[in-house]
Amino acid sequence: MEQKKVTVPDLARMKAAGERITMVTAYDCPFARLLDEAGVELLLVGDSLGMVVQGQPNTLPVTLDDIVYHTRLVTRGARRALVVGDLPFGSYQASPQQAVESAIRLVKEGGAEVVKLEGGVRMASAIASIVAADIPVMGHVGLTPQSIHRLGGHRVQGRRQGERERVIEDARVVEASGACAVVLECIPLDLAAEITAALTIPTIGIGAGAHCDGQVLVLHDLIGLSEDWTPRFAKRYAAVGREVVRAAREYVEEVKGGLFPTEAQAFSPLGKAANAK
Ligand code: KIV
Repeated sequence: MEQKKVTVPDLARMKAAGERITMVTAYDCPFARLLDEAGVELLLVGDSLGMVVQGQPNTLPVTLDDIVYHTRLVTRGARRALVVGDLPFGSYQASPQQAVESAIRLVKEGGAEVVKLEGGVRMASAIASIVAADIPVMGHVGLTPQSIHRLGGHRVQGRRQGERERVIEDARVVEASGACAVVLECIPLDLAAEITAALTIPTIGIGAGAHCDGQVLVLHDLIGLSEDWTPRFAKRYAAVGREVVRAAREYVEEVKGGLFPTEAQAFSPLGKAANAK
């Protein structure tokens, strides 16, 4: 049975009904299809693709062209899920005008239905300008990986004196600027609970405990595709990376041992498969 498409108003409805929201990152069409089939409501074409797909040390080198390209692949695979395109570093910080132009590209060329950007107070006018252009925005506060140099690395936010108030203020400003949801990344669980209770828009947590309105995981962490590093807050639900190695190893052995291809996989000289009737 065809399931109803997830929409932006559904997010507010889900929060009001106490229904938890799920978001997973996706970077291509086949995985978008699989995650959609699994019932994930939001597919985030995250700039985490810099690390998990491109093999970069952080998200900073990712370009708007990269995100537009991957968003286009994901929207082809998403039937029910809402697709969120991440604005990468350098595509919205220069001015609200730049932010609107980048967001329009993500919608027009990539097919994104929501755009996400990092930052609270300092991004208020960028968020408001994109929303005024009729594009739904998802905020992102707490640990904002595009700010790693200012923050001094990927570390938990909101634990030190003054930081807690700053994260709360950031989340409030994101909501007041018109965002439809906000990601809370790597903050203590009591702080996430306080923000979730204070906001009317849904909070989507990553490394922020169980009291958020929803959760997000990076696909490669969830299915065990990035073997070298899994953050403490992530949960690995499968070991797909190991399974890929096993399958490829078996293929190598069979080719070297003359076991693949068999006659069944070959074509006869007449152009028919050997096993074709
Ligand atoms: O880029 C990304 O994958 C993200 C999530 C970690 C929220 O921003």
